Order: sequence, then structure tokens, then C-alpha cells
Amino acid sequence: MKQQTLLMIKPDAVQRNFIGRIIERLETAGFQIVQMKMVHLTVARAREFYEVHEGKPFLEELVAFMSSSPIVAIALEKENAVADLRELVGATNPAEAACGTIRQCFAIDMGKNSVHASDSPENAAVEIRFHFA
Ligand code: RTP
Ligand code: MG
Repeated sequence: MKQQTLLMIKPDAVQRNFIGRIIERLETAGFQIVQMKMVHLTVARAREFYEVHEGKPFLEELVAFMSSSPIVAIALEKENAVADLRELVGATNPAEAACGTIRQCFAIDMGKNSVHASDSPENAAVEIRFHFA
């Protein structure tokens, strides 16, 4: 069954000109781009996106980073899209990300880890609505 998920290309990857290379990987892996935009999130919007992480020690740094310069938000469709995108993206910490994953290839560290991917079909729906209401 077709499923949708959300990918964000984070500021570190946009700044280092990796948008095209990341999108190429998505398309090669069989994901269909259904909606896409570049946006500079305000601090308030970044905080709203990450409200599930309220109270976590890394939240302030994450919000500051995600609002520091533009990101690219992409709604993707594919069978098993949520799990397959998480696999393509790799572990949160790029030092632990599997060989050939987006984070292993492009990310700098745990904070500047190049991409966000929805972690469940329910959160994917919320996150797609957040960017493409
Ligand atoms: P994402 O949401 O960006 O796809 O990443 P994720 O699911 O793999 O990781 P999550 O637990 O949702 O955390 C969101 C982002 O917060 C930063 N983080 N830093 N220093 C830390 O311990 C820490 N933990 C998480 C990462 O940039 C992560 O992508
Ligand atoms: Mg997450």
C-alpha cells in the first residue's frame, strides 16, 4: 500500500550544496516527490515542528539550527515509505549510520545530520500538514 512521509533537507546540507545529490538518492530509491518547497523556518515554527521533543536537552540547539538558514521540505510517496526512508537516511548519529546511507555520506555530526525523516505514519501525516497545509 502506498504511504507518504516527510523528508527535510537540513541547513547544513543546503549550505553545502547537497540538495541535488540527496534528491537523486530519493528518486533512485523509488520515492515519488509529491510536494516540495524551500523555506526559512522562524524560531517559533521550528519549535512547533519539534514540540514532541519538548523538555529534551538538545531541543534549544535543534530549534536554533533548524531556523538558522533555509531548509527543503519534501513530501514523498512509495510503498512502505516511512520505514524505507528511515533506512535510506541512516542512524541519527552519522558516526553510527550504515554505509551508503544519506547521513553516513553527507552528515557532519549528531546536530548537523543533513536530513529529517518522519518516524511513523501518524507523525508523517502531521508533518506533511505542517509544511503543506
Ligand atoms: P530526525 O527527527 O531529524 O529525522 O532525527 P531522528 O528521528 O533520527 O532523531 P530524533 O530523536 O527525532 O531527534 C531529532 C534531532 O535532534 C537532534 N538530536 N540531538 N545531542 C543529542 O543527543 C541529540 N539527539 C537528537 C538530531 O539532530 C536529531 O536529528
Ligand atoms: Mg525524529
